[in-house]
Amino acid sequence: MREDKSGPEAARLLEAAGYQVADTRILPDEQALLEEELRNICDQHLADLVLTTGGTGFSMRDRTPEATLAVAHRQVPGISEALRAYSLTITPRAMLSRGVSVIREQTLIINLPGSPKAVRESLEYLLPALGHGLDILTGTVTDG
Ligand code: MTE
Repeated sequence: MREDKSGPEAARLLEAAGYQVADTRILPDEQALLEEELRNICDQHLADLVLTTGGTGFSMRDRTPEATLAVAHRQVPGISEALRAYSLTITPRAMLSRGVSVIREQTLIINLPGSPKAVRESLEYLLPALGHGLDILTGTVTDG
């Protein structure tokens, strides 16, 4: 398996933004396994936020969005729409990421593209807006 540089990059950016990183995991491109991990994390509420990196493209092995949708209780299309719109200002290839964002129980799952560059660009854009949504999801704030 190739070295994962995107996971550590995501963890670094999250920590710099004040998040506590509970865990980072490398999984094979296997949809059933990914679904199981996601269900486990959300149903045991091991994290408020799960970021996946990679597996959102067109290769036959890219099944991250399908696994994410399979475990979704509610969809959050705005996050992935905004991410693609922003990323298109950087590269037209942003349209090739099929990433989705969903909520299961009280956990938000966001699919990011796989390269460290894409992870960096995505998180620099998303993180300033995410905190408010996570506060509402976890019940820290109840109002607008
Ligand atoms: N988004 C940003 N912000 N920056 C990028 O460099 N790369 C794109 C796209 N989204 C990119 C991006 C490319 S080249 C691909 S193929 C898709 O994400 C899917 O990537 P994945 O298969 O690693 O998930």
